[in-house]
Amino acid sequence: MASRNTLASWQKLNELAQRMKHTHMNDLFSHDNNRFDKFSLELPSLLLDYSKNIIDQETLDTLILLAKETGVSTWREKMFSGERINKTENRAVLHTALRSSNNDNLIVDGENVGECVKAQLAKIKAFSDTVRSGKWLGYSGKRITDVVNIGVGGSNLGPQMVTEALKHYSDNSVNVHYVSNVDGAQIVEILRPLDPQKVLFIVSSKTFTTTETMINAKTAMNWLTAASFDQNAIGKHFVAVTANKENAMSLGIKQSNIFDMWDWVGGRFSLWSAIGLPIALDLGYQQFELLLQGAEELDKHFVESPFEQNMPVILALLSVWNTTFLGAKSQAILPYDQTLHMLSAYLQQAEMESNGKSVTWDGEEISYTTVPSIWGELGINGQHAFYQYLHQSNNVVPADFIGSIASVTPVKGHHETLMANFFAQTQALMTGVNEQQVRADLKAKGRTDAYINMVAPHKVHKGNRPTNTLLLKQIDAKSLGTLIALYEQKIFVQGIILGICSFDQWGVELGKGLAATIQQQLENEHQERNHDSSTEQLIRYYHSNKLN
Ligand code: F6P
Repeated sequence: MASRNTLASWQKLNELAQRMKHTHMNDLFSHDNNRFDKFSLELPSLLLDYSKNIIDQETLDTLILLAKETGVSTWREKMFSGERINKTENRAVLHTALRSSNNDNLIVDGENVGECVKAQLAKIKAFSDTVRSGKWLGYSGKRITDVVNIGVGGSNLGPQMVTEALKHYSDNSVNVHYVSNVDGAQIVEILRPLDPQKVLFIVSSKTFTTTETMINAKTAMNWLTAASFDQNAIGKHFVAVTANKENAMSLGIKQSNIFDMWDWVGGRFSLWSAIGLPIALDLGYQQFELLLQGAEELDKHFVESPFEQNMPVILALLSVWNTTFLGAKSQAILPYDQTLHMLSAYLQQAEMESNGKSVTWDGEEISYTTVPSIWGELGINGQHAFYQYLHQSNNVVPADFIGSIASVTPVKGHHETLMANFFAQTQALMTGVNEQQVRADLKAKGRTDAYINMVAPHKVHKGNRPTNTLLLKQIDAKSLGTLIALYEQKIFVQGIILGICSFDQWGVELGKGLAATIQQQLENEHQERNHDSSTEQLIRYYHSNKLN
């Protein structure tokens, strides 16, 4: 892969950044009445307005050139056709095949991907129909009322984010709960009100080696068998989703209760597979299918649209522009729709686990800033918490504002208030208010000169803070599928442009390894230790202050 900094487009972007850093969006808007038309795109379920970024036509053209020079279309083709682009793990990257209606000829590791996917979808449908209709019975012959998904990271965030977002569409045939934390406080609180006779557990883990998930699964099994006095109850109350059938079976899960995962699906892109089982159980298979359809629609758009009109490509380029060229360090995800309250947590894993890296595909140190840290919260809550920082800190945080035109739960007067804030915030972040305006306003309010002199500098908002506005028609399974796939493909393009392998996650391994050693030292105080003085003293303090 050619070094990024030597590309003509990269060098031009560096030059443009020097100019654009001193350009205010207010001027860009006042010089061009067509800015919205030029810098917005529409899909069937959502609109993207990216005109409130510090770009002009020349910047955009050069960014598009960058996408071309870095071979985005070749890499896109490689991904969709099942090439092993996850280089460091020697795997294909085919989460797109999970939602494709055209994957019949895709062969990976001698297996027909389309057939594998179809078989699992049929199994998801049959199983979710059986459980939801009350035909799946627990050990004492009672129907299942509650489903507990045990999994962490990609085996938790996707399904939980989606079932939270689509709660409104649930008919409450079953209640779905999620256990991800190995802190016993979570599983104890979730199981406390539940009746073991009526609970179905999904142990969701691609590797089936994740410590947190394995411990939680064993605790859940003990809870069940303590009530049923029967080991066989596990067959009626536990299913697994995994690429490691052997480990699932040795935990005691029946072979027929295991749903497949594959090496070619990364954990953080896996909600479209049987990892999404809680979605089908909560909302019904039809809703799950709509989610897949929405994502497939976006994939088609990504494959077929020229870069100039390609939403994930544009979003990726803007992120690279704001971060690598203009120097932003973080990016906020600010949903205004209550239903999307888990979106920023979901995108944190999707983007940061994918692209939070500092060597190229070839293992060379990267000299430019790669991706920003992702954080966020529901916009309205954020307004009363951290928006002060967004408006006036000397650290510019580009932000994605996500809202919908129609509320799924309309309550008189609420939605307009919500959306008024949604529109006002991006406007305020862009326009700001200068000292002259502040002074004129205070003067008009009859304030004294002394007061004005004192307070004016504090009231200045410099503005010029980049935002993208993503306006959905309404949150439903299809539009949500499109939105999630949009971010997935954006992350893919970002990785290609930055020269990063987006599909591995070696950075999570070091801590896991150390934790395994330290766990033994916590269980046995006399176990030999060889730590730095900080870690050693912390462990000593832990032992000497332990209550039991
Ligand atoms: O530790 C990180 C990670 O491997 C994620 O990439 C993954 O989504 C999560 O852990 C859970 O992994 P698994 O599904 O194998 O339990």
